[in-house]
Amino acid sequence: MSKLFKTSIVIALVAFVFTSCDKTRRKLQFMPDMYQSVSGEPYEESNVFENGSEAQLPAVGSVSRGHIPYEYPDTNEGYLSAKKNLKSPLTPEDFDSKKSAQLYQIYCVVCHGKKGNGLGDLVKREKFLGIPNYKDRDITEGSIYHVLMHGKNMMGSHASQLTEKERWLIVKHVQELRKNLLK
Ligand code: HEC
Repeated sequence: MSKLFKTSIVIALVAFVFTSCDKTRRKLQFMPDMYQSVSGEPYEESNVFENGSEAQLPAVGSVSRGHIPYEYPDTNEGYLSAKKNLKSPLTPEDFDSKKSAQLYQIYCVVCHGKKGNGLGDLVKREKFLGIPNYKDRDITEGSIYHVLMHGKNMMGSHASQLTEKERWLIVKHVQELRKNLLK
């Protein structure tokens, strides 16, 4: 094979590779399913289910994976019931004082202050008022957890920011702070 012939083959190949990469003028589709997927139509008529639609609500009582239901409602009765009955599932081995202090620092200190006396930076700068000193509140592990789940008046819920375990770790820290404030 002449050198010229070989060179022209290489050039032709390179040209082919580059032209085939031009997505604006695609002529040949390699594995077309990747581009033109079969679309599912959730609202399409179907006779698979009784109500005639493919889109179905989850069965009654289904729980999404990893979700732990919280059964105390966001009412005064729910608060009182949680205060009395809800107990921490953490065992002494689960407890990690460093981690709970860290979480408290991240989520609560701006308002409640490092010691829990209600003098966080936002209070000192008069940006937020009405934050209690933990020692002035008759709170239990259940009520603290309940307030983290549902919030209370001006305090928002922390349910979406924290996992169940993280919430219980914080609860323990609040109890420690309260104990120290009451000394
Ligand atoms: C934006 C400010 C703010 C943040 C952040 C905040 N709180 Fe509060 N918290 C409040 C206010 C305001 C109240 C008073 C609510 C009331 O009783 O009207 C309160 C009340 C409480 C109470 C007493 C509730 C009761 O039953 O009397 C607890 C316990 C508490 N907060 C814990 C926490 C914990 C733990 C965190 C962090 C995860 C936190 N708070 C984050 C503003 C805040």
